[in-house]
Amino acid sequence: MEESFWQERWRESRIGFHEGDANTLLARHFDSLNLAAGSTVLVPLCGKSFDLEWIAAAGHKVIGVEFNQGAVEEVFQRNGLTPEIVRINGLTRYSAGALTLYVGDFFELTADLLPPIHAIYDRAALVALPDPIRARYARHLVGLTGAVGQLLISVDYPQEQMKGPPFSVPGDAIRALYEDDYDIDCVESRAITGQLATRCSGQEEAWRLSPRP
Ligand SMILES: C[S@@+](CC[C@H](N)C(=O)[O-])C[C@H]1O[C@@H](n2cnc3c(N)ncnc32)[C@H](O)[C@@H]1O
Repeated sequence: MEESFWQERWRESRIGFHEGDANTLLARHFDSLNLAAGSTVLVPLCGKSFDLEWIAAAGHKVIGVEFNQGAVEEVFQRNGLTPEIVRINGLTRYSAGALTLYVGDFFELTADLLPPIHAIYDRAALVALPDPIRARYARHLVGLTGAVGQLLISVDYPQEQMKGPPFSVPGDAIRALYEDDYDIDCVESRAITGQLATRCSGQEEAWRLSPRP
């Protein structure tokens, strides 16, 4: 999707993807990433998700990337943090405490802007992208991080039921994108609930991607 599509969704508060609390699949499966305390977790297309502070509260540093400036500012505000703001390579970096959030295009993020990344958390990022862009997204993510462990939350439903986003990205599609770099396991599959369940019927799935030795 074009950036204008997302900015309009934010402007009009059509952000049904935003959850009022940390995602329960994150809470149940984050430990399977086996991270040492103080690790750094990359959260692509992070929105203003409460998952960001959940990961920070678990003792890790968080780096997010998001098109929408207001969403990023809200994360710092609600946590009572005053971020340092720096313009860098066409992106704007907000940082305070354990949170560093870039405002700008994920595809403009380069490895030299990042410290070593120990894990990736993708919730509603891969599924936000139309099929032709997903391979580019996966390659960029692996290129930025060197294929570190990943917890990926996706949805799988008959695509004819609705137009995405979120798009249906079933297991076969995830394997096609990532199996060169990762062993891939579905750690939980549950019925789609909430607002999305009024538009389609399928599964929300948590995938553990383990780097191949
Ligand atoms: C479906 S939402 C998911 C947000 C968040 N992960 C969550 O779970 O609430 C996708 C988000 O990605 C952002 N986005 C889409 N494409 C992007 C890109 N290329 N670079 C940065 N942000 C992007 C959108 O603005 C939107 O907030």
